[in-house]
Amino acid sequence: MKILILGSGGREHAIAWNIQQHSNGRDEVFVTPGNPGTAQCGANINLSITDFEGIGKFCLENLIEMVIAGPEEPLVKGACDFFKKNDSLKHIHFIGPSQFGAQLEGSKAFAKAFMQRHQIPTAAYKEFKEESFEEGIPYLQNHSLPIVLKADGLAAGKGVVICQNHEEAIEEFGAMIQQAKFGDAGKRVVVEQFLDGIELSVFVLTDGKDYVLLPEAKDYKRIGEKDTGLNTGGMGAVSPVPFADDAFMQKIITRIIKPTVDGLHKENIDYTGFIFFGLIKVNEEPFTIEYNCRMGDPETEVVMPRLQTNIADLCLAAAQNRLHEMSTETDSRTAVTMMAVSGGYPGSFEKGFKIVFPPASSIPEGSIIFQAGTKVHEQQVVTNGGRVLCVTSFGENVAEAAFRSKSVLQQIKFDGMYYRSDIGWEFM
Ligand code: AMP
Ligand code: GLY
Repeated sequence: MKILILGSGGREHAIAWNIQQHSNGRDEVFVTPGNPGTAQCGANINLSITDFEGIGKFCLENLIEMVIAGPEEPLVKGACDFFKKNDSLKHIHFIGPSQFGAQLEGSKAFAKAFMQRHQIPTAAYKEFKEESFEEGIPYLQNHSLPIVLKADGLAAGKGVVICQNHEEAIEEFGAMIQQAKFGDAGKRVVVEQFLDGIELSVFVLTDGKDYVLLPEAKDYKRIGEKDTGLNTGGMGAVSPVPFADDAFMQKIITRIIKPTVDGLHKENIDYTGFIFFGLIKVNEEPFTIEYNCRMGDPETEVVMPRLQTNIADLCLAAAQNRLHEMSTETDSRTAVTMMAVSGGYPGSFEKGFKIVFPPASSIPEGSIIFQAGTKVHEQQVVTNGGRVLCVTSFGENVAEAAFRSKSVLQQIKFDGMYYRSDIGWEFM
């Protein structure tokens, strides 16, 4: 099958890599815009992920049969609807929800109301906008601490603010609604109870009726070791998650995954794609913090190596409403990925530094380099983003897998390179 993947990060490299590993040459992969890593698994195409016209034209000219959307942006902007509503494109299988379905990620208020309609455990909340601003002040004054404020729309991962006192919450509330701190994204605000627990990421691929469960993962979001400092897009991940035992996963399935997929079906929401459940374990009970309409990054860089089934076969089955026929195989070993980032990230950083990779022969069996913010400049791979690349390794346990990833990272060099070598620290 000819497949086009939209995106250019480590997630897209890992998806393309999984297809290359498991398709026995049956699938041909294109990635747009891709990166030098994805170019090792297929052909890169130079189109923006929101250039729907250009993507459609490319698909027709190259007989693409399936499109897999990596990030949320094209989905929230209606890429799926563009394909489905266009007579010449609608035969192409599109993996990613409709614009309406993508609101599970694109609107926190939509997601919270959906969870409430389907009794899916989540933090108690109330929604405010400009018209209800005055009501919000006494609500915040009487709220238990800390208070979680969330801009409704996409805010480049910065729209969640956890306030430790009432004054700070009221100030932040004003900044979001009245001063449009996050632009239109923050003109509606969800005020939410703080949940104290440990987070994990759970993934399914669904056709809006059935689903397959993919391996779960835990992401490390903070820049500093032992989970300190600023939030990032994710500095590393482990899979499986040691505390997600069978009993806990069963609770997640019955209380969260099934009611979510059934809810999509009952509400006739067109959704063929991934659902990323951002969950938190509070006293043995799972709660939903957020939905994303895509896979996680860097979680995909541990999920795809563990998945021993061709993700393209699963996606095709989803598109053809045959998911109930599918089963998946998972490598039982532990995978740990560590992300190397540009010096200064998540603040400002420079790009364009030459990356020195070890020779392929010195990368041990069971370790994989996934590229993220990289590009080719004058025949050299150079840094081109905050999160530059990651190394995923397998091991019998977290400590062994982490040790192997670190050993490979020690052989990779670029100016300003930084990584957290403590990924998985609480499980060692
Ligand atoms: P989000 O943008 O929804 O992924 O939120 C970013 C991060 O904020 C989450 O990964 C959590 O660490 C934290 N967070 C969000 N909502 C809550 C909550 N209700 N209680 C505690 N932490 C939260
Ligand atoms: N790693 C978190 C995310 O992809 O949103």
